[in-house]
Amino acid sequence: MDLSTTYLGLELKHPIVASASPLSAELDGILRLADAGAAAIVLSSIFEEQIIAEELAEAAMMDLGTDCQPEAAGYLPPAPGGNVLDGRLETLRRAAERAGVPIIASLNGCSASGWVDFARKLEQAGASAIELNIYRVPADPMESGPSVEAAALEILRRVKAAVGVPVSVKMAPFFSAPGHMAARFAEEGADGLVLFNRFYGPDVDLAALTARDDLHLSNPYDIRLPLMWVGLLARRIPTSIAASTGVWSGGDVVKYLLAGADAVMTTSALLRHGPGHLATLLGALRGWMERRGHESVASFKGQLAAGGQPDEAAQFLRAQYRTILTSYDAQAASQL
Ligand SMILES: Cc1cc2nc3c(=O)[nH]c(=O)nc-3n(C[C@H](O)[C@H](O)[C@H](O)COP(=O)(O)O)c2cc1C
Repeated sequence: MDLSTTYLGLELKHPIVASASPLSAELDGILRLADAGAAAIVLSSIFEEQIIAEELAEAAMMDLGTDCQPEAAGYLPPAPGGNVLDGRLETLRRAAERAGVPIIASLNGCSASGWVDFARKLEQAGASAIELNIYRVPADPMESGPSVEAAALEILRRVKAAVGVPVSVKMAPFFSAPGHMAARFAEEGADGLVLFNRFYGPDVDLAALTARDDLHLSNPYDIRLPLMWVGLLARRIPTSIAASTGVWSGGDVVKYLLAGADAVMTTSALLRHGPGHLATLLGALRGWMERRGHESVASFKGQLAAGGQPDEAAQFLRAQYRTILTSYDAQAASQL
């Protein structure tokens, strides 16, 4: 049975990829994911402002120690420039050497030079590809949609000009026309798109009357928005597509592949069940293929992707929206 697929021009032994999470922040976790069978691993994002803040804090600590008690300086750890970033790059370097599967570095910058400088360093450290985690809430009501889009495209353009490895964009679903935005990313040279980045909005703590930013894992229902967009875009966008969000079972992997994804990413399920869950997903994918008589992933990938005219897809989705709303069965729903 041939489970192989190509994502970002990288040959993967199967389509299931571990997406960015705390599991892929340290070498130990990355190797566990590789041993458990991940076809590729996206590392936990490097956040430019976090690296800068940690390095400033570290430098301040060093200054504090040496100014107050010069004789104590020998007890402080050595301070080569850029300690924090160097540590992350070293993890990437070792992971790339030892994991035996493509290691995709994830970057979330906050300055024009930061995106480019960090991307170059990630490439030099051995990343097989770079995933741009462009996550920004346009909180200023005076900022227009086109300006948000232009800023995201500019980040991609700069990074593409700076590195030779493939570059993907982990997109937010909140553009007014996500399909057009995907097409624009492709025109600007994105090698792949990750549909989608997950938004973690704050809650309110009613006791403390403050914002509360606890994190909830996804659930299988969350598959639906990215599933629709993967299906709409897979045949129309000339880049590879990774589906992300809501993958808990082998059935979810199959759905995304049927919609046309080249790779299928998962995080929440691995955090809940551990890296060993990758074998469960893979076993279920194999089982489904066997039952359906598929010898290869390629033989059914994209079988349910929208083709034909954009109008047909729009009409189908409108009819589906109407049907869903009008066929709601309160009794059945109460038994769920
Ligand atoms: C605890 C946690 C940490 C995450 N860290 C990152 C990160 O560093 N960079 C990133 O792009 N996404 C990050 N994500 C998002 C995941 O990569 C993924 O897009 C999201 O969880 C949706 O996929 P899932 O439904 O399989 O969980 C994180 C998610 C969780 C739950």
